[in-house]
Amino acid sequence: MRLGAIPDGLVERIGLLLGKVPTPIGEAMYSMPVARSLQVAQRTGILGALAEGPRDPAELAEHLGLQAKGTVRVLDVIATLGHVKQNPDGTYEMTASGRRWLDPRSDTYLGDFLADTYEYWDWYAGLEDLVRDGKHVELHEKAADDPYWQSYIRGQYQLARLSSAEVAKAIPLAKGAHSVLDVAGAHGEFSMALCRQHEGMRATIVDLPGSARVGEEIVAEAGMAERVRHLVGDMFQVDYDGHYDAALCFNIIHHLSPEQIRALFQRIRAVLRPGAPLCVLDLYDREGGQRANLASILGLFFHLTSGADTYTTDEVSRWMGESGYGSVEIKSLRTLPDLRLLVAKAV
Ligand SMILES: C[S@@+](CC[C@H](N)C(=O)[O-])C[C@H]1O[C@@H](n2cnc3c(N)ncnc32)[C@H](O)[C@@H]1O
Repeated sequence: MRLGAIPDGLVERIGLLLGKVPTPIGEAMYSMPVARSLQVAQRTGILGALAEGPRDPAELAEHLGLQAKGTVRVLDVIATLGHVKQNPDGTYEMTASGRRWLDPRSDTYLGDFLADTYEYWDWYAGLEDLVRDGKHVELHEKAADDPYWQSYIRGQYQLARLSSAEVAKAIPLAKGAHSVLDVAGAHGEFSMALCRQHEGMRATIVDLPGSARVGEEIVAEAGMAERVRHLVGDMFQVDYDGHYDAALCFNIIHHLSPEQIRALFQRIRAVLRPGAPLCVLDLYDREGGQRANLASILGLFFHLTSGADTYTTDEVSRWMGESGYGSVEIKSLRTLPDLRLLVAKAV
């Protein structure tokens, strides 16, 4: 799965509608209704109800207190993606791909993440201000009791569950390693995966109050509260409280400037035992300045939501070297084909 990519076949379908020639009009016209239909169907309960079984659209709309015409139109748009289908008797049902991602009983359910993307709409409405005046959203400056944290961190948790087992296996722990520091670790899924794979492992997660509160709930629900603790505070200020056999820095450096990244790597270095790995999982720009890939789409999102940027693996490797780490190994992951895991040991 390529998260955030335009679904397979959609461009071709748009192209067909426009006479087999993919034009920018196709993307501008079609991607908005597709995205919004998915988000609205999730938030209004249409997808949740369909996960229970086939439904007549008028009856479904009435059951959910929705308008029948709008419900059908939204369902038809989602059907173009292949996640639902219309049966000959007029009912709609979820397909196998829909069930995989959108049925709450699935281990790979992404409904909360999908619902969270509803919030992105307003942020993208400000894109012209970003381009004209450099104004961006500060995603992580919301008040600790803002309900957005639930939506954000539960969504990130669902994404993390898809790759955490493979990522945990890729972390080179020394024999006898028993402690990991997970900076900006939020929901704790990557730490929990390490704990599941290594008996005796304990994890310390550092995160902001709004995120940590949700993360503590998730860890407790997973029955891991005795092995995974949260340190609440700003990762640039909070006392990391101990020494560690490994550190994770996952999906955070794209929110930071190069100076902040170096400062963070140095702070982490100060609490790592010699030889302990720092692992930096993120989306990286292609070397050579070529940005026309998924990194360019998510790079815009990161810039919009923090004013920061994505970087190349060369840049981040150099900053690791300058911050007290040895040579960097770059790992690819089957479950996260667009990301890379950079690993370097504290010297
Ligand atoms: C995109 S999420 C990544 C969560 C997790 N590491 C993962 O890979 O799924 C970014 C996290 O960074 C946290 N964060 C942002 N700024 C922070 C700061 N100054 N100190 C601590 N955590 C921070 C956010 O609260 C959020 O939980």
